[in-house]
Amino acid sequence: MWRRRCSPPPTWRRWSATPARSCTWRTASWPCSRPTASTPSPATPRETAKEPLTVDWDAGHYDTGGYEHYLLKEISEQPETITRTMSGRLDERFHVAHLGGLNMDARETRSFRRVKIIGCGSAYYSGQIGAQLIEELARIPSDAEPASEFRYRNPVVDPDTLYVAISQSGETYDTLAAVQELKRKGGRVIGIVNAVGSAIAREVDGGIYLHAGPEVSVASTKAFTSTSLAFALLALHLGRVRDLSPADGRRIVEGLRRLPGQIEQILQQGDKIAELAKKYAPHPSMMFVGRVRGYPVAREGAQKLKEISYVHAEAYPASELKHGPLALIGPDMPTVAIVPDDELLDKNLTTLGEIRARGGQVLMVGHREPDAKLADDVIVIPRNEIELDPILLTIPLQLLAYHAAVALGRDVDKPRNLAKSVTVE
Ligand code: F6R
Repeated sequence: MWRRRCSPPPTWRRWSATPARSCTWRTASWPCSRPTASTPSPATPRETAKEPLTVDWDAGHYDTGGYEHYLLKEISEQPETITRTMSGRLDERFHVAHLGGLNMDARETRSFRRVKIIGCGSAYYSGQIGAQLIEELARIPSDAEPASEFRYRNPVVDPDTLYVAISQSGETYDTLAAVQELKRKGGRVIGIVNAVGSAIAREVDGGIYLHAGPEVSVASTKAFTSTSLAFALLALHLGRVRDLSPADGRRIVEGLRRLPGQIEQILQQGDKIAELAKKYAPHPSMMFVGRVRGYPVAREGAQKLKEISYVHAEAYPASELKHGPLALIGPDMPTVAIVPDDELLDKNLTTLGEIRARGGQVLMVGHREPDAKLADDVIVIPRNEIELDPILLTIPLQLLAYHAAVALGRDVDKPRNLAKSVTVE
């Protein structure tokens, strides 16, 4: 048998059509394929240097499990899916998150001066939630950008920046191409990915798998909340090797543990949210507003509504309304306002007053009924730590979009013009 050490000149790839032979260089990540004098017959079993990969998805993920649509099933699964995302990763002793898949020691984890997050569509919005979590908990400057833009603008790749690529499918071409560009320029890239062994998962230096199970419906729901949760774990991890105190670490760990039960409580409001969806769905257009932590939630809410119900929806930072979009507000344009009980509550309530003064209807999502009659309808969610609010605030918006799409008779799981995995430019 041929036992010379293999070295990997790139031209060997061209020979990949010839039968591969095993090679003693076990670290090779590509099959050592080199023509031999006696080419084996096609019946000869081939050896490969590739490791088998076991995926923990079962057939039950691919039926609707008694729900009318995959989307409703996937929304309803979120107490379990986020439990799986955090399972085995929280440490009650040191109040940290264990993320061995990052392949980084503590010294390297401390060395990053910035975090740059890339992803497309809903993945990008969850990246905005992630950037805020990392800034708040780890005090590292962070931002998110659509991967589809990033890859075309010849980005400056900084050795002190941790790059994070997000993808449910792990196959989105724009995100993959951005990762390849980063790697080519020597960037350190980790992935937050659902699909095990996917193209992006194979390309990155390490990462966090979501373990949310396959997402069948075209609109992303459970992967969105699991990604946001994975960012909370990453922020905790980065924070606890820096200045996040054990007390704050404990506060976040305990908050994360409360999330599955609280999501369950929101899901129990499904009938009420279905009624609200029937009331608001006939409007041709809807505005979604939120401030800081609430803004990416508003963007995701608008995205969900437009993609599955085809109702036009715009999302704005609430602080920006008076700089232009307030002109649109009136009886035909209801607003979904994300108003958590945080340090921005008073400012948000002022915004509701401005909308109501212009005859706009308000559907508020927050922690309590507003004092004055500032909203026509309110969906109340349970309280947790304010940094984790975006995860809980997202759930009612998913249900609102789902029930609006059902009320309008749309093809909920396969909305027009969209594909689950965008593998083209
Ligand atoms: C929206 C949605 C899309 C995806 C985007 C990225 O509901 O599903 O916006 O989030 O196409 O897909 P992944 O996460 O597979 O890279």
